[in-house]
Amino acid sequence: MFNKIKCVIFDLDGVITETSNQHFEAWQAMAQKLGITLEPSFEEQLKGVSRQASLERILAYGQKAISEEDKVRYQAEKNAHYQRLIASFDERQLFPGVDSLLSHLKTKGIKIALGSASKNGPTLIRALGIEQAFDYVVDPNTCASKPAPDIFLDAMKHFNLTPQECLGIEDAQAGVDAIKRAGMVAIGIGDPTPLSQADFVFPTTEDAAQWLMSKL
Ligand code: BG6
Ligand code: MG
Repeated sequence: MFNKIKCVIFDLDGVITETSNQHFEAWQAMAQKLGITLEPSFEEQLKGVSRQASLERILAYGQKAISEEDKVRYQAEKNAHYQRLIASFDERQLFPGVDSLLSHLKTKGIKIALGSASKNGPTLIRALGIEQAFDYVVDPNTCASKPAPDIFLDAMKHFNLTPQECLGIEDAQAGVDAIKRAGMVAIGIGDPTPLSQADFVFPTTEDAAQWLMSKL
């Protein structure tokens, strides 16, 4: 299974750094303006899901209908709030294990891709000081939202590889489902219950990194 791997596709939020809390905090504040209270248990529904699809899920949850114009405005407000929350991010916010795993993959000649749904992805990897490590960054604007496999397949096609030659790392249920729909090896990070489709699940990125370095 592992000796075939030629590319590792990383999710960003919740895998490379802890931005899931910031995304959810910004969504909670936005939803509150619409009179919708987002319970912490709802967070899993938004992980890995694009900005637009997240807003639609929140509106369905709160049983609210708003105009297309307001949808654009609320998304922009949420994003501005989120960007304020991550404005001070630098190398210190990189999860332990990420640096060593990236160096290990480079040494082994394994391609490194970013497969994040976030339009803030390029800014974040620059702030975290790991931009140079990525051979390819998927543009989420051109791909269907996870759990569709498109983001992972886009990276695979870029390197002219087969699904069996790719491995994805994800913290979100939608993300793990996307990797499996792409036919790739899926590594889950976090609570194993929502990530039951993953091939292997680890509590932290550091645990996954240590294990992967012994396999790849
Ligand atoms: C994913 C996050 O990585 O990116 C989601 O898990 C987020 O919570 C999505 O909604 C889109 O992010 P952005 O930065 O484009 O709004
Ligand atoms: Mg994530």
